[in-house]
Amino acid sequence: MRMYDIIAKKRDGGVLTDEEIQFFITGYVNGEIPDYQASALCMAIFLRGMNAHETAQLTLCMAKSGDTVDLSSIDGIKVDKHSTGGVGDKTTLVVAPIVASLGVRVAKMSGRGLGHTGGTIDKLESIPGLHTDLDRDRFFEIVRKVGCCVVGQTGNLVPADKKLYSLRDVTATVNCIPLIASSIMSKKIAAGSDCILLDVKTGSGAFMKTVEDSIKLAQAMVEIGEHVGRRTVALITDMDRPLGDNIGNALEVQEVCSTLHGKGPNDLTEVCLDLAANMLYLAGKGEIGECKKLARRQIDNGQGFEKFKEMVAAQGGDTAVLDDTEKFAKAAVEFPVPAEKDGFITAMDTEKCGIASVELGAGREKKGDPIDYSAGIILKKKTGDRVKKGEPIACFYAADAEKCKSAAHLFEGAVTIGATVPAAVPLIHARVTAQGVERTEF
Ligand code: URA
Repeated sequence: MRMYDIIAKKRDGGVLTDEEIQFFITGYVNGEIPDYQASALCMAIFLRGMNAHETAQLTLCMAKSGDTVDLSSIDGIKVDKHSTGGVGDKTTLVVAPIVASLGVRVAKMSGRGLGHTGGTIDKLESIPGLHTDLDRDRFFEIVRKVGCCVVGQTGNLVPADKKLYSLRDVTATVNCIPLIASSIMSKKIAAGSDCILLDVKTGSGAFMKTVEDSIKLAQAMVEIGEHVGRRTVALITDMDRPLGDNIGNALEVQEVCSTLHGKGPNDLTEVCLDLAANMLYLAGKGEIGECKKLARRQIDNGQGFEKFKEMVAAQGGDTAVLDDTEKFAKAAVEFPVPAEKDGFITAMDTEKCGIASVELGAGREKKGDPIDYSAGIILKKKTGDRVKKGEPIACFYAADAEKCKSAAHLFEGAVTIGATVPAAVPLIHARVTAQGVERTEF
């Protein structure tokens, strides 16, 4: 078999065989296939696509390209959750403790923030003392004892994706449904959970800018999950505005605490309840309506918050900051950003809001950049709200005023103020299961 022929076949619109896909992944991971041939194949896939069988085969070969996690020694159903990334998305930290407090295990590997999107690992590490680099035995022990644990990716998990993702990043081949679906699902399959809930973000702050494209990506991923025997459901959730009011690591953990106390912003609370309900549903806890009531009860009775504290303590974190969020280290500078005129906020370019938070120090432009945990944005107004000229629409937090000034410049371009109230949009646009697509009636 020759890589040249595989590239030419896909270039001409052919369907790759299982053996050809395996040959590519094995050869690329062990260094026999060079980057230039792998990038030619990625571009051919980008232009010609892959059918459902090819996509599933690519996913499986990638999932098996390195270590895999075997969670079978942990009793009970293990449910994983994946978000395609957004701004202000702290849902894992709300949802994992809620479902764990109801007996569903969450053994979660998460990532760090990059570009305009934040990462759960950075948010967690803003809690003093907390470790996300636990070895596998300790990770399993916490999942058994507490019910949930969130760690960074360890070991040699899916090396094919590590290599391919960096290659796609520099060859304009990221935004391709079979390549995104196989990249995400290979990591979920290798991580070993029985069921998978996907949160596919849609809108200006997401990879997928339209609901239709998000549904297509969700369908491809649900199909892969079901194909390999993992029950999979996807929610298409709105990312045309940041989720919740706080953007930035410690600020987001503070909002997690208020949400688990039942005092969080409505949008974040509603999305978290829907995500938790779907995880509970996947674990066989009942129909969606019942599961949503169960999730809400765990907020009302405080058990979700207690579970979050238990998880943080088990990972070495100082729970005093969760009991009193005023104890989080404060940014040196607090900088209110006023509205430029009277009117209604008609749109928020969420990607630009994320970039403004990176400018403040809350994120990183490239891998390995340092992060300021106390930096970020608290939104005082969001899409649909009436504003008066001069009143604060946001407050920035950073180490110095210069950062705030340049972030304010970016942020002003992100917020549109118009004369009329914009049409409301749903927080959840659709739910995709093996049975089909349920669109939210609105
Ligand atoms: N997230 C991933 O993990 N992979 C992609 O290809 C895109 C987003």
